This record gives sequence, C-alpha cells and structure tokens, in this order.
Amino acid sequence: MLENLEKIKVQFREELNAAQSKDELEKIRVSFLGKKGLVTEVLKNLRNLDAEEKKIAGMQVNILKDEIEQAIIEYQKTLEEKEYRKDIENVEHYDYSIPSGKEVGTLHPITIVQKQIEDIFKTMGFVIEDGLEIQTEFNNFEAVNIPENHPARDMTDTYYLENGQILKTHTSAAQNTIMKKYGAPKPGEPLKVLFPGRCFRNENIDASHDNTFFQLEGMMIGDDISISNLIYFMKVLLTEVFEREVKVRLRPGFFPFVEPGFELDINCAICGGAGCPTCKQSGWLELLPCGMIHPNVLRMGGIDPDKYTGFAFGLGLTRLAMMKYNIKDIRLFNSGNLKQLKQFTI
Ligand code: FA5
Repeated sequence: MLENLEKIKVQFREELNAAQSKDELEKIRVSFLGKKGLVTEVLKNLRNLDAEEKKIAGMQVNILKDEIEQAIIEYQKTLEEKEYRKDIENVEHYDYSIPSGKEVGTLHPITIVQKQIEDIFKTMGFVIEDGLEIQTEFNNFEAVNIPENHPARDMTDTYYLENGQILKTHTSAAQNTIMKKYGAPKPGEPLKVLFPGRCFRNENIDASHDNTFFQLEGMMIGDDISISNLIYFMKVLLTEVFEREVKVRLRPGFFPFVEPGFELDINCAICGGAGCPTCKQSGWLELLPCGMIHPNVLRMGGIDPDKYTGFAFGLGLTRLAMMKYNIKDIRLFNSGNLKQLKQFTI
C-alpha cells in the first residue's frame, strides 16, 4: 500500500509539471482526487486492511491527499501569473510623448453654466450636494408632499424600473435626504444647499421640452428665512449668469411642496419676447419655479416647521443654458453634435 502511494506521488508530480493550462490541471485533479481518482481508490481499499494497518495507511493517504490538493492550488496560481504576464507582454505599447494631433475636448454648455452657478452660490456659503438619478417613489413624490393619486404625478410621468424605483423627475427628490443628512440648522447658521442633477420625464419632445434635462435646485432653511431672501438669491443668480439686465416676471405657481409658490419666467432671449417656437409664441419661458418650503416637507425631513422656515427653487438648467447661449432647440444638448456643442465657452 505504501509503495503504491509513493508511485502515485511520483506520477502526480510528473503530470503536474507537464500541465500547461487550467483545463489540464482540472483533469489531473479529477484523475487523482475525483470519485474514481487514484487516491480515492486507495482510500476505498483501506477497508480491506486490518485495524493497525488501516490506521497507518489511512494517515499516509490523507497526507498525500492534502499534498496533492495544496500542490494543485499553488500550481493554479503559477499558471494564472503566467497568463497575466503573457497579457502584459502582449499589450500594445504606446509612445505617450508623440503629439496625437487630435483636438482637446471642451466642456458641455450645461456643465459650463452649472459650474458658473455653483461658483456664485459657493461664495454665498452654499454647499453643493449630488442627488441620485435613480430614486424611490417616496423621495420623488411622497417626501415632497405628492401622495399617491395626487394629480401632480400625472404631469411628471417618468420611467419606472422593474424594482419599483424610478428615474427622478425633478431635483426636489433629494430634498428629504439632504434635510435628514444635515438636520435642523443651528441658530444664525441657516442650511444652504445647492443640488444640480439630471432629470427624466416621459415628455412629448419639442423645442423646449426633452425627456432628459438638467435642473439645479437650491434650498435655504433657517429660523428666520422669508420670501425676501428668496427673491434676493434669484436676482443674484440671474444677474451673474446673464451679466446683463434680463426681464423676468414673477407669478403665482402651484407646487405641492411649497406654500406660497411662484413661477419666475424669463423673457425669451431667442425672439426678444415677440414669440417663437422656443417660447411657444408666448414671449416667456418658464425657468425658475420657487417658493417657501411646505411645512409637511420640512416635517418629513425631520425639521420642525414651527421653528424653521425655508425657501427652495428648481431652476431649469438646460433652459437657462438655452437662454444664455441663444440656443433655439433643446434637442441640441443631447444630440452629440460636437461641431455645435464645442463652440460655447464661459
Ligand atoms: C419642478 O420640477 C419643481 N421641482 C421645481 C421647484 C423646486 C419648485 C423647488 C419649487 C421649489 P417644474 O416641473 O416646473 O418644477 O420644472 C422646473 C423647471 O425645469 C421648469 O421651469 C423648466 O425650466 C425645466 N423643465 C421641466 N420640464 C422640462 C423638460 N421636459 N425639458 C426641459 N426642461 C424642463
């Protein structure tokens, strides 16, 4: 029996050293340790031995079995290393110092405007947050006071994933998470957050509506925040972005998550207010809905509405870029038309 074990050991070493691939290695493993493998056969034959022999031989077979198992694991690592090395050697070598002659990319116009607004708001003490694009229905709707069956849900139909989550319809979907993250503001230190993001709606696409567009939302919550603060920040935003006088109009607007709510429209920069397809012949473009945060929304975010008030605004960032750069059709932004897109700078 012990002689037989020695033979198996030698045979195993020979076969192992000749193995060139993981497949060959697996075949060796099966032929020694598999159900009908050589070592397994020896183990089965142990029952024919008397008790004393069985004890000694059993110990030796198990030692050999462990040795083979260990050797196979180690050899597998060696083969893997060989494969990696071969891959590395086969990688095409580039000379990175050779000028490519290709053009350097430029920032997308929406990114340019977003960065510009972020810079303005950072100087006024706002922090920038990043909201998720895939959201729960709770965050997108319930948490901003739009319960199930509320008609406001019809106006923002979106794309539903199989797991029940949705592509967010507005940046307001991040309000609840942000409130919970920062908690109630300290006296004299209002919470000031800016959160830009991509939004999705199942829309009829035209010159000013896309199914994928950007908004930029801002929120300020404190113990003494009023509509005057809201109007001040909206004015700063528009003056800095346009670097010129722009005509705006403020009118009442309904959003379940603000009370009172407003719509701030901008005079259409494409037609100067005369009416065109971009502004649907009205001379005005809906740009910046805003209002005082509804007490229910504060409460759901863990902030006591009897102690704190706040404003929120949801700027149509894509539309703002259209007005800033005189872009007539919103479809340009997602078109991938580099000839058009690369011409914009700050
Ligand atoms: C909202 O989405 C609110 N969450 C905004 C808000 C935030 C109000 C905080 C109050 C307080 P609205 O559906 O109107 O509101 O969209 C906001 C802006 O996004 C619009 O004024 C418009 O500029 C832009 N927008 C909306 N739908 C589209 C679309 N399909 N394509 C391009 N821009 C759009």
